[in-house]
Amino acid sequence: MQLITLIPGDGIGPEITKAVTDIFAAAEVPVQWEEQNAGQTTFDQSGELIPQALLTSLEKNRVALKGPITTPVGKGFRSINVTLRQKYNLYQNVRPAKTTEGIASRYADSGIDLVLFRENTEGLYAGLEIFDEHNGIADSIARNTVAGAHKICRAAFAYAAKNGRKKVTLAHKANILKVAGKVMLDAAQDAAREFPEIQYEEKIIDNMCMQLVTKPEQFDVIVTTNLFGDILSDLCAGLVGGLGVVAGANIGDDMAIFEAVHGSAPDIAGQGKANPTALLRSALMMLHHIGEHAQADKIEKALNLTLRNKAQCTGDLGGQASTSEFAQNIIANFGK
Ligand code: NAI
Ligand code: MG
Repeated sequence: MQLITLIPGDGIGPEITKAVTDIFAAAEVPVQWEEQNAGQTTFDQSGELIPQALLTSLEKNRVALKGPITTPVGKGFRSINVTLRQKYNLYQNVRPAKTTEGIASRYADSGIDLVLFRENTEGLYAGLEIFDEHNGIADSIARNTVAGAHKICRAAFAYAAKNGRKKVTLAHKANILKVAGKVMLDAAQDAAREFPEIQYEEKIIDNMCMQLVTKPEQFDVIVTTNLFGDILSDLCAGLVGGLGVVAGANIGDDMAIFEAVHGSAPDIAGQGKANPTALLRSALMMLHHIGEHAQADKIEKALNLTLRNKAQCTGDLGGQASTSEFAQNIIANFGK
C-alpha cells in the first residue's frame, strides 16, 4: 500500500475528492490516503493556510493529490500552489490535453493529443518584483537559471522518449528576450542533442498561439517557460473541453503533487453538481507516476465509456448526473 497525501481543498474540492476516492476504493487501487487539508477551510479553523502537519505528510509520502484551494483575498497571502511549487522545487508543470469522445469542443474531431511542460518555479514568476514609487517604475524580473532551463527541457525530452512521443516543440521569445529566452533556447537544443530520436522544433510564442488554434494536432510535447506555459496550458485546455476536464501535475525530482487545474467553484459548491473528471484524470496521472499503470488504464477506460453516454455525466457535460452518480456510473463501467 502506497501512502498518498490527500488535500481535499475548498468549495467543490471535498465533493470531487470523494468521487475519486470512491472510484479508487471500488477499483481496489493499492493506495492509502492520508488526509491533510490546506486553504480557506484550515485558515478559518486554525489561522494557518498551510498547516505544518500537511508539510510533514508531503515530506514523508512524496506524492499528493490536491483539490482546488480558495486563496483568501487579502494582503500578504501568497498562493498556496506557488508556495508549494517553490518550497519543494516542483519544477515541472505537466498538463496533457487530449480530445475525448463525449467531451464537447469545437476541436472535437481534430485528434489533439499533446502534453505541455511548463517550467514551474522560475521566469517571470520568480518573485523578483520591485516598484520604484518615486519614479513610477515597476520591474518584474524574469529569472531563468541555466540549471533550471536544462532540467525542464530535459524532463520534456525524457518524457517524450519514455512515452513513445515523436516531437518536442520549444515555445520561446528568444528573438526579443535575448538573455532569459536564450538560456531556454540553449537548454532545449542541448536536450535535443541528447535525444536524437525525438524530433525537435522551435516556435516563437506568438506564432505558437496562432498555430495552436489553427492546427493543434501538429503538436506532441511542448516545453516552455513559466508565464508562456501558464497561458498556453489554459489555451490547450480550451481546445479539448475546458478546465473542468484537464489534469495537471507539479513534479520535482523527489516529490509530485497532482491537481485539478480548475478552482474551487464556490458558485456550485455543496450542490453535487461538480464534475470530478479533472481531478480523476490528475489521479490517473498519479497512478502512472507510482507505476500503477494497469489500474490507471482500467479506470480511464471506464471514464471514457461513461463520457460517451452524456446522460451519465454531470450537467456541465450535458448530463443529469450528480457528482456521486457520475462516480457510480464510472464504477459500473469497470471491465466493460
Ligand atoms: P473556478 O475554476 O473555480 O470556476 C470557474 C467556473 O467554472 C465556475 O462557473 C465554476 O462553477 C465552473 N467549474 C469549475 N470547476 C468545475 C467542475 N469541476 N465542475 C463543474 N463546473 C466547474 O474559478 P474561479 O471562480 O475564478 O475561482 C474560484 C476560487 O478558486 C478562487 O478562490 C481561486 O483563487 C481558486 N482557484 C484555485 C485554483 C487551485 O487551487 N488550483 C485554481 C484556480 C482558482
Ligand atoms: Mg494558470
